[in-house]
Amino acid sequence: MYNETLSVFVIQGDNMKNILIGVTGGISAYKSANIISKLKKKGYNIKVIMTKNATEIITPLTLETLARDRVVIDMWEKKSNYDVEHISLAEWADLILVAPATYNIIGKIANGIADDMLSTVISAAKAPIYFAIAMNVNMYENPILHENISKLKNYGYNFIDSDEGFLACNTTGKGRLRNEDEIIKIVETHFNYKILSGKKILITAGRTEEKIDPIRYLSNKSSGKMGYSIAKYAKELGAEVILIAGPNSQEDIKGITTIKVNTALQMYEKVFEYYSNVDTVFAVAAVADYRAKDISKNKIKKNDENLVIELVRNPDILFEMGKQKENQLLIGFCAESENLIENAYKKLEKKNLDYIIANHTTYFSSNKNKVVLIDKNKNNIEFDEANKEEIAKKLLNKIFNI
Ligand code: C5P
Repeated sequence: MYNETLSVFVIQGDNMKNILIGVTGGISAYKSANIISKLKKKGYNIKVIMTKNATEIITPLTLETLARDRVVIDMWEKKSNYDVEHISLAEWADLILVAPATYNIIGKIANGIADDMLSTVISAAKAPIYFAIAMNVNMYENPILHENISKLKNYGYNFIDSDEGFLACNTTGKGRLRNEDEIIKIVETHFNYKILSGKKILITAGRTEEKIDPIRYLSNKSSGKMGYSIAKYAKELGAEVILIAGPNSQEDIKGITTIKVNTALQMYEKVFEYYSNVDTVFAVAAVADYRAKDISKNKIKKNDENLVIELVRNPDILFEMGKQKENQLLIGFCAESENLIENAYKKLEKKNLDYIIANHTTYFSSNKNKVVLIDKNKNNIEFDEANKEEIAKKLLNKIFNI
């Protein structure tokens, strides 16, 4: 039976996520010192709960020295305020990381046991919980553990599986705590993953087709791949995405509101239905600059003369968005066959953009792309040639500071 005594160490940073670290009594508990120290250096707000067993393996003093801000609390400690400690800790946490997570803590949580501070806080928490598994290989192979893990996974708990290697019990096998940096990366990926939650992002993609007669149209070369890749990644990062797509060769993306249009005028109309309610716009569509003044009802017959079709200007959707910009972050693309950067600078200014992404026309309809990201102060970042999904990730990571 666990004694309820615990130690809580508090480290505070500004505007950063709150991570509650649970340290249980596996031999690798000493590695938690490194995890705490590294996360603290990154600026996260850290609180640490140790089980009584963990304090036998790594002294609270070690963690205190690393944290340089020690607060020791047990479940029944008298405090100067009237917070119910296990509830306030559970509510404080944006994420709970249990590292190491022993056979025991996994078993307790899977079976509804809350008999010490850590298991009680976990039981009361609504925050995402990550267990970094670490134990003896025979315990690891025990089917009861795997039943517990699969039960907890069904309830949405996350697991950072152990590595294989030489274990403290003088055997080789699975059960070693994952490398600290990998654990930290998983935690950070979790936060980054959701970094755009609450944001509404409007994306135009594909091309427009401007009819001349029932079977002919004016258009641009565009597969829609770049816009769809941005839409997909923005959604993965938690954003609400509204995709306004002209004709393209991409598959619909599950969970994204996709509004299909054909012409620039239709795209214009749809964009302005949403524009005032979005935070960010990526105008990726290759919009036709001109449309036929009159669309012939019937197929235009050829004769021996040249054909003259009168074209009229389509609205520049992005230019109009720039004119009506309030708080939106406005990001345009430009494809140029010459003077790439110079032309990009002109469009950045003319369309009142926050960023412009310049690419060579040679990459149209290709899976790959090579782009330069230019911010409104005309700072350029060149990205190496990569597939469009990779480019989408790099662009969003840069723009949203991920
Ligand atoms: O001026 P240019 O067509 O090169 O600008 C390209 C950028 O403007 C792209 O972001 C494209 O989606 C957008 N655009 C637009 N409406 C047009 C033409 C381009 O929104 N009629």
